[in-house]
Amino acid sequence: MPDQKQFTRAEVAARNSKEDAVFVIHNHVYDVTPFLDEHPGGHEVLLRAAGADASEDFDDIGHSLDAKELMKKYQIGEVVPEEHVEVAKREYQWEDVKHESGDGQWLTWRLPLILGVVASLTWLYFQ
Ligand code: HEM
Repeated sequence: MPDQKQFTRAEVAARNSKEDAVFVIHNHVYDVTPFLDEHPGGHEVLLRAAGADASEDFDDIGHSLDAKELMKKYQIGEVVPEEHVEVAKREYQWEDVKHESGDGQWLTWRLPLILGVVASLTWLYFQ
């Protein structure tokens, strides 16, 4: 959205009540006042995040694509460019999956195979 309203982080910090609950997620500003009672995770967590940068908390929950679609409805603008903070998005990439299974795979199927061959050869040897 090109002509979005811009907010400083100080302006957002002042809006931290249940009558006016605003927070920042990845440099976008959200007014979740009308969403407080509808949030599946409860209003307490949203109120705790109000006035602050909730990027990490939001990512940590692993919100669904539906949630990410829904949040667009509550976006009221963005943080002024000079106050942008890049919080690394913690999402699983294919690379992570490959790394995680990398070493483990060897033990998972190659080791039992080798043990099987050794056992068969030993058995044949004693026949
Ligand atoms: C506009 C912003 C937000 C929207 C639209 C949103 C939406 C949702 C939705 C739809 C769910 C149901 C599960 C899912 O579909 O992922 C959910 C769960 C939850 N959300 Fe949010 N959320 C927002 C912000 C936040 C923030 C800032 C926090 C934490 C500070 C938070 C904490 C949680 C928690 C704890 C759950 C429950 C997870 C569970 O039961 O496993 N949410 N949210």
